[in-house]
Amino acid sequence: MASGEIPEGSVQNVLDQQSLKWVFVGGKGGVGKTTCSSIISILLSRVRSSVLIISTDPAHNLSDAFQQRFTKTPNLVNGFTNLYAMEVDPTVEHEDEVELDGMDGFISDLSNAIPGIDEAMSFGEMLKLVQTMDYSIIVFDTAPTGHTLRLLQFPTTLEKGLGQLMSLKNKFGGMLGQMTRLFGVGDEFGEDAILGRIEGMKDIIQQVNKQFRDPDLTTFVCICIPEFLSLYETERLVQELSKFEIDTHNIIINQVLFDDEVVESKLLNARMKMQQKYLDQFYMLYDDFHITKLPLLPEEVCGVDALKNFSRNFLSAYKPAVTRGTVEELEGRVSTLAQQLKDAEAELEKRKKG
Ligand SMILES: Nc1ncnc2c1ncn2[C@@H]1O[C@H](COP(=O)(O)OP(=O)(O)OP(=O)(O)O)[C@@H](O)[C@H]1O
Ligand SMILES: [Mg+2]
Repeated sequence: MASGEIPEGSVQNVLDQQSLKWVFVGGKGGVGKTTCSSIISILLSRVRSSVLIISTDPAHNLSDAFQQRFTKTPNLVNGFTNLYAMEVDPTVEHEDEVELDGMDGFISDLSNAIPGIDEAMSFGEMLKLVQTMDYSIIVFDTAPTGHTLRLLQFPTTLEKGLGQLMSLKNKFGGMLGQMTRLFGVGDEFGEDAILGRIEGMKDIIQQVNKQFRDPDLTTFVCICIPEFLSLYETERLVQELSKFEIDTHNIIINQVLFDDEVVESKLLNARMKMQQKYLDQFYMLYDDFHITKLPLLPEEVCGVDALKNFSRNFLSAYKPAVTRGTVEELEGRVSTLAQQLKDAEAELEKRKKG
């Protein structure tokens, strides 16, 4: 991009970036992460062979957005042929699975030694699963900020943890075998089986870790609203992402009040002024980002039709109703005139005959 040029205010760049494999969508609670990630996945399904959207929020609300129940395996979204959705919970340990080769006890004891390893492990299992499924692109609807950042650190946590484990194995050799038996792991699932599995995951994790840091493959879309706390949190998010070397160059500012009707409400006028102050700051701070503004609607954005309808604001700047009103008005006037002309012609014809 030439310096001084303002990036386009849409997510078209994300749709155009054909090399992308992972898109993370995150931000503060309630700002519109699920709405935006759902719409981005719908838009991507038009240009990609297959799209998977994953919710990693324990409060799962993809089901609300799409008005369809999803599970922890990919389900086709109603009305689509290539858009799949799944809801996973990285904080829940493999509840209903059989004692994963005796891994659970072992891992949970391990987690005391390496904090976050159990969560990282189930995230790793999920990534491993998803990697083998061959989707063209994967969109993550993440939980509010703090959680997202931890999620992005998982591959690093795992890599470190596994490294530690390997050196432990080398140091203590057979003792680890005794330990695993102590944790209730049978001989047939001895240390080698467990370490083998962890090592197997290590390759995937290292691979994913590298992919998350590759701007050709991964990007993070920040969602926010034009308010102080959200601006502040976005800045924190952007800084953390750069610390983790994760690419981000899209910000979506949701719930913007547009001055498209003569607003007589003092409250709305005051809020619009407040929003403008923060909008200005967003544009100043992130002049190298694609900033997309979304209007606050009078109603929720629920169901595929509403999502599709709202998606147009992701592709081109929202046009306030004033302009739309004017066009509609003009169209109305033109059709009235056309009708009058027709009537006049008919009248003329009648008189000629008569
Ligand atoms: N621009 C908008 N205008 C009106 N309603 C909106 C808009 N954007 C989102 N909503 C509605 O606001 C609610 C919260 O949005 P959403 O679930 O996308 O937020 P979230 O960031 O995912 O929340 P959480 O942090 O709880 O996961 C939803 O009911 C959604 O339909
Ligand atoms: Mg959500």
